[in-house]
Amino acid sequence: MSVRVYVPRDAGAVAVGADEVAVALRAAAARRGLAIEIVRTGSRGLYWLEPMVEVATAAGRVAYGPVQADDVEGLLDAGFLDGKAHALHQGIADDIPWLKRQTRLTFARCGIVDPSSLDDYRAHDGLKGLAKAVSIGAEATIEEVVQSGLRGRGGAGFPTGIKWRTVAQTAAAQKYIVCNADEGDSGTFADRMIMEGDPFVLIEGMAIAGIAVGATRGYVYIRSEYPHAIAAMEEAIAVARRGGLLGKAIAGSRFDFDLEVRAGAGAYVCGEETSLLESLEGKRGIVRAKPPLPAHYGLFGQPTVINNVLSLATVPIILQKGAAFYRDFGMGRSRGTMPIQLAGNVKFGGLFETAFGVTLGELVDDIGGGTFTGRPVKAVQVGGPLGAYFPRALFDTPFDYEAFAARDGLIGHGGIVVFDDTVDMAKQARFALEFCAIESCGKCTPCRIGSTRGVEVVDRIVAGEKRTDNLALLEDLCNTMKFGSLCALGGFTPYPVMSALNHFPEDFGGARPRLQAAE
Ligand SMILES: Cc1cc2nc3c(=O)[nH]c(=O)nc-3n(C[C@H](O)[C@H](O)[C@H](O)COP(=O)(O)O)c2cc1C
Ligand code: SF4
Repeated sequence: MSVRVYVPRDAGAVAVGADEVAVALRAAAARRGLAIEIVRTGSRGLYWLEPMVEVATAAGRVAYGPVQADDVEGLLDAGFLDGKAHALHQGIADDIPWLKRQTRLTFARCGIVDPSSLDDYRAHDGLKGLAKAVSIGAEATIEEVVQSGLRGRGGAGFPTGIKWRTVAQTAAAQKYIVCNADEGDSGTFADRMIMEGDPFVLIEGMAIAGIAVGATRGYVYIRSEYPHAIAAMEEAIAVARRGGLLGKAIAGSRFDFDLEVRAGAGAYVCGEETSLLESLEGKRGIVRAKPPLPAHYGLFGQPTVINNVLSLATVPIILQKGAAFYRDFGMGRSRGTMPIQLAGNVKFGGLFETAFGVTLGELVDDIGGGTFTGRPVKAVQVGGPLGAYFPRALFDTPFDYEAFAARDGLIGHGGIVVFDDTVDMAKQARFALEFCAIESCGKCTPCRIGSTRGVEVVDRIVAGEKRTDNLALLEDLCNTMKFGSLCALGGFTPYPVMSALNHFPEDFGGARPRLQAAE
């Protein structure tokens, strides 16, 4: 009987040598006459241990990492196919404390299953949510999602069930489900991990959405910088179609649903839902004025559900286990779990899914282990390039939409980027404005012009030119962008700028009176 060995094919693992490890393992096993079966999985999300290789033993899957191709002979000599000791031995994978502390609902299968096998997906509770949706019908499915308290994980935190209901109640011959897999936020990779590690959960979630609102077609809009995710999704869609999960009468039901992948072209603003729709229609990615909402007038002018990967990938477990199960996790109006991504200068970077309510300090110091460089943490940016910088003084903030908003921050897509004490926050503020200038779609003046003027004003402040006047000008400019921009690119860029200025005035040339962010 052959021994099953799991080697990730996740882009993050491949980048540090997972493919070479798989090749070396196969060759070494053949040379030694050992029967092994290599299964390529997604990542478990412990990126400092990648490539993390697991071996199936009677006691469970035993993990080794980080494994390089030239470790393979030594691992085989040490008896790793029997889960024996070695310097890279991490013990039973499920018992690794970093993994054990998590509550994996959306990521329940990621890193465990073969992402190209529908049978494996089924064997790990896959398709139970879809079966439930088929049996209870559209309205009850929407009600489950509403009751679960699930909010959009793309950034805005809008209740998913309410969005679905709006589309369901809008009459049209054709409706669409669009999955936003543009994942442009700095320090985020959860969407990519799902698509590479458990693509069927996204397909299942989209099919459930289709049943709920009466949509028969879907699109997954993936950034072109994600070739592995694009390939994994295309492979899974083909498998799903062959397995009767997509197409006519999906999973033997009375519902039809099919979907395809579309690749973006690398603009951050194409993650904004209306500009994404323009791009999907083959046009330049420029933001549309709202109303009309995409729920009423979306793709090709038809009612459209547009949701983030994580929102859609969470729906199957909600349907499978019921709204109350999911809603029981979390705090306040932030229900369920959040797949948090620890990145930047952090010791233990990776995917940490946990119930809302964990504090920022716990995440950075305890779970993240502080900085990779070993220097003190100076700041963290939460929620992507438009998120605020939080100093240590705000580390008691619980991970919760409202708690972050109350402190002029946002949790966005759940990315946390850690910086040590060598970071210059004036440079970060300048970068935020420069980023906005480069990525602006150009439709509205506060963002298009304001971001460029903002870079110039920060430069003058740092150079010590008319500091008081220029600080007042920067505040005024930020307020104009915040209140006068058409979308959140221009509207939220003031957050990283103002937070850097308010929390780290010394980096802007010395102490100064606190600027008031306009409410
Ligand atoms: C500039 C900008 C970029 C955005 N990028 C993304 C993105 O990459 N992925 C995403 O899911 N949402 C992104 N959003 C949010 C979307 O506009 C939209 O709110 C989201 O796709 C809705 O899905 P959800 O309700 O499931 O979160 C972005 C918004 C803005 C303003
Ligand atoms: S805020 Fe910027 S990105 Fe958004 S519509 Fe205006 S110009 Fe375009």
